[in-house]
Amino acid sequence: MIQHLNHLELLSGNSKVKKFNLKKKVVCLTSYNKFSAQIADKYCDLILVGDSVGMAYYGDKSTRFVSIQEIIRHGKSVRQGVKNAILVVDMPYGTYKNSPEAVKNAKKIVKETKCDAVKIEGGYEVSLIAKNIIKNKINVMGHIGLQPQKIKKNDHYRVIGHTFSEQEKLFKDIDCLQKAGVFSIVVEAVKNKVSNELVKKSKVPIIGIGASKNCHGQVLVLEDMLGMFEKVPKFVKRYSNLNRYIEKAIQKYSKDVRNEKFPSTQNIYK
Ligand code: KIV
Repeated sequence: MIQHLNHLELLSGNSKVKKFNLKKKVVCLTSYNKFSAQIADKYCDLILVGDSVGMAYYGDKSTRFVSIQEIIRHGKSVRQGVKNAILVVDMPYGTYKNSPEAVKNAKKIVKETKCDAVKIEGGYEVSLIAKNIIKNKINVMGHIGLQPQKIKKNDHYRVIGHTFSEQEKLFKDIDCLQKAGVFSIVVEAVKNKVSNELVKKSKVPIIGIGASKNCHGQVLVLEDMLGMFEKVPKFVKRYSNLNRYIEKAIQKYSKDVRNEKFPSTQNIYK
């Protein structure tokens, strides 16, 4: 039996409690700017300014190059578009190596972006850090399973939970993060059977990406689901083919300019 939690509850930046009904699945997406956030806010319960911005927006090979200034810049933009959803901002690689640094950087992110929570990657090894951030009245979301910040240049992305030791680590991770007080945990690229067990065990909502459909909610990177990339992981479902639309529009524009069809009388000032 999968446990059904009733509420997702957290203190928002202005200390009001935000409560979400979890009788339905929690819908989450990433966003890196005000305009996509305004649309996502109509349909999502939680919006994440993910450090996937490094790869999906800047075209880097890893999420490791995102700086705190960059995530804050995107967080501020997204904040302008989010009125209802929970706004979570990722703490970039290297910004939560120890508790004092983590607390200082989490405070900076919350102060400047006015987000409701920060997300950190890692399990039991970051649980004390999570606890110390939470002690400072900042909501923390966990992220276990595949952790993109741990992937070095030539490593490849892989599914987690095949071995007994990986499974044991996941259970320990979830237990320690819950005890630390995280309000929710992202579980990425974990075998279906194992993620089902994690959902059963968890007392906080589990948000899956490449995990079981029994997770309390699902998250995807917006650009992945819009069809902006040729190669995406198996867990991505493409809901559009935006790249093709963009290419067609640019092709048409280029033709119009070359054939002197643009600008037309409608586009010039009389
Ligand atoms: O950075 C990100 O977009 C994320 C999601 C994939 C959960 O962490």
